[in-house]
Amino acid sequence: MNISVIGTGYVGLVSGACFAEVGNTVLCLDVDRRKIAMLEAGAIPIHEPGLDSLVQRNAEAGRLLFSSDYDDAVADADIIFLAVGTPPDEDGSADLTHILSAARSIGQRLVKPAVIVDKSTVPVGTADKVRAAIAAELARRGVEVAFSVVSNPEFLKEGAAIEDFMRPDRIVVGSDDPDAAQQMRKLYAPFSRNHEKFVEMDVRSAELTKYAANAMLATRISFMNELANLSEVLGADIEAVRLGIGMDPRIGPDFLYAGMGYGGSCFPKDVKALVKTASDNGQHLHLLSATDMVNDAQKNVLFSKLVRFFGGVEGLHGKNIALWGLSFKPDTDDMREAPSRILIRALFAAGARVTAYDPVAAGEARRVLAAEHGERLCDERLALAPSAHAALEGADVLVLVTEWKEFRAPDLPLLAASLRHKAVFDGRNLYDPAAFAAAGLVYEGIGRRAAAM
Ligand code: UDX
Repeated sequence: MNISVIGTGYVGLVSGACFAEVGNTVLCLDVDRRKIAMLEAGAIPIHEPGLDSLVQRNAEAGRLLFSSDYDDAVADADIIFLAVGTPPDEDGSADLTHILSAARSIGQRLVKPAVIVDKSTVPVGTADKVRAAIAAELARRGVEVAFSVVSNPEFLKEGAAIEDFMRPDRIVVGSDDPDAAQQMRKLYAPFSRNHEKFVEMDVRSAELTKYAANAMLATRISFMNELANLSEVLGADIEAVRLGIGMDPRIGPDFLYAGMGYGGSCFPKDVKALVKTASDNGQHLHLLSATDMVNDAQKNVLFSKLVRFFGGVEGLHGKNIALWGLSFKPDTDDMREAPSRILIRALFAAGARVTAYDPVAAGEARRVLAAEHGERLCDERLALAPSAHAALEGADVLVLVTEWKEFRAPDLPLLAASLRHKAVFDGRNLYDPAAFAAAGLVYEGIGRRAAAM
């Protein structure tokens, strides 16, 4: 099939490359010419394991093409995916400017029947708006072309996106047109070979499914974070509680990790957008509003622990805090809504210095933090260390922010010898409190029971 993908961000690029991998001819379009030039030169704008070789292989085979020209993307396409960004508006709702402008660009050029697919995460009702935008352009041109708009949300986790795409646990397609649904089924057949993964439904249910999945996962995390904070007060250990409840198959072991609050490009944005959609329709989502509130508070929990440790905010003045990890989660350089940003903001405000090490995200973090705080403040207060070990030099305490694999087995005697205050704050409950206590280190996790030193 001839596939076009509009938008070469994270979702568009991964989807395009995976569709090409199974033999389709895929054209990826982006209005950002610099990005397209980069991709044509074989450079990948984001860090995603396996993506560079996948793109390279399929580009060399001539199945994966790049362009900035809508004429190329619309002329021969059987299926056109919309995978452009939907950043949050001021009020939390998803901004549809890019989606609708892409829809108009398609309508201005469509000459043969095609299926238009909403891949971006968009509020319920967006497919209707996309359909109307395309129809308006066709009417303006005075032409009649049959087209359908279907919803096909993505469930890709950053850092595991290719695996998630190639071996999905489900493929959700919402369509009000049986022929379009059939075409989608055919397109996805290679990803659904041994087990039927295809779930067909109406358009609105598919649009809502995406939000429902992310909202449920986000709520699990906020639930565990709240219980973690309660565990601390009660002298219980959230890690024991997690194991104890996760074995119940109705609950399951995944996504029960207390931590620094969820970040990334999806959960925070999608939770807010769903709350907004509901309120636009006269409903208040109490549970989800609380999920969001709990998460905002959780991003400050580590800072509060640091304040307590240093005997007040003033105690942090002039201190050097080592951070391990900056990205919102491992295996990505994505800094969107990363909890590290909230922590660094608070540390800067308290007059502390930060020495951070991240295996991949350091460059992106520096860019984002400089935009947020200014180059000067970053020059003065932020040092990026070349290794986990180097970040400890001259540090007062260590904060584990992102659970990259290389942080899993730290050299405890070295930590004890390097850190002036011999204290580690574990934002991901990665470590064993007893082992740290035995090494003479103060250990603070999230909702952990203190071990005797
Ligand atoms: C998520 C969804 O998983 C994916 O299906 C959707 O398409 C996009 O949003 P992603 O944002 O890549 O994917 O990250 P994910 O691995 O789901 O983690 C989200 C956040 O939750 C991270 O900040 C992570 O650290 C946090 N998290 C996750 C926890 O705090 N505890 C957990 O138990 C799991």
